[in-house]
Amino acid sequence: MALRHLMSPLDFSVEETEKLLDLAADIEKNPEKYSHVCDGKILATLFYEPSTRTRLSFEAAMMNLGGKVLGFHSADSSSATKGESVSDTIRLITCYADICAMRHPKEGAPLVASLKSGIPVINGGDGGHQHPTQTLTDMMTIRSIKGRLDNLKIGLCGDLKFGRTVHSLISSLSRYPGVSFVLISPEELRVPSYVREGMRAKNIPFEEVVKLDETTMAGLDVLYMTRVQKERFFNEADYVRMKDFYILDKEKMSVAPEDMIVLHPLPRVNEISVDVDDDPRACYFRQVQYGVYARMALILTLLEMEVE
Ligand code: NCD
Repeated sequence: MALRHLMSPLDFSVEETEKLLDLAADIEKNPEKYSHVCDGKILATLFYEPSTRTRLSFEAAMMNLGGKVLGFHSADSSSATKGESVSDTIRLITCYADICAMRHPKEGAPLVASLKSGIPVINGGDGGHQHPTQTLTDMMTIRSIKGRLDNLKIGLCGDLKFGRTVHSLISSLSRYPGVSFVLISPEELRVPSYVREGMRAKNIPFEEVVKLDETTMAGLDVLYMTRVQKERFFNEADYVRMKDFYILDKEKMSVAPEDMIVLHPLPRVNEISVDVDDDPRACYFRQVQYGVYARMALILTLLEMEVE
């Protein structure tokens, strides 16, 4: 069998994605059945960019499967500071681990690594490009709470330009029938043209709006809030101008649909007021738990481990 990596959510067909999500749902129901499946296996987490959730979620996922983890959590604490390339680093990681998750500020760095790797490489976020494991997490959350991935109207709000989770989620959900998008962002932070063209090529209905209000939220099944990606701005003044553009608060939630769930990949800054946290429609902390199951299922899938 050829070695498989995960760079973009489209690396898995819809059928493979469904199978993976079914596996994640079974892990949620029967965690003990999976608790020793990866005994003796090692996951390396190579994080050249800060992360709390993604890295710890990967590590928790491998530990829940009985495996072990090693790695680094910043470029400063790796040989990258000495000038080592990701291609060289992955060659040695191949000698230490069975599977690897990599986050990197440069778009395409995990792909470069995968070309020289002897073990499956998972893209844990590459610059403002893609974040496929957050998408698996988001899809599992939507499917578990809404019961479906088709026939959904999804609002994505905030930094749609640099927000890699948004790019991955749009490309993945665009494969399901009856899905439409409302893209809510300031002019300067609209989705990149390749994302817009991708939707057009598939005839996916979408609208681009600036305001987050009752009219924009009407009919939404999901509102996906995002953080303005400070680290990808070229100057501080632009960031400061944009950072509090959207704040979802109790008042806005009072005019939102009754059955609209609110998701956020986290970390949140100001874009969701803490007074929304107790609203039953606020599902972003549940989303974190789904992320662990989704990553457990992904590790098993890429390591080709079947559990009866
Ligand atoms: C996201 C990311 O890193 O792109 N975080 C995450 O992985 N949960 C979103 C963000 O940082 O805003």
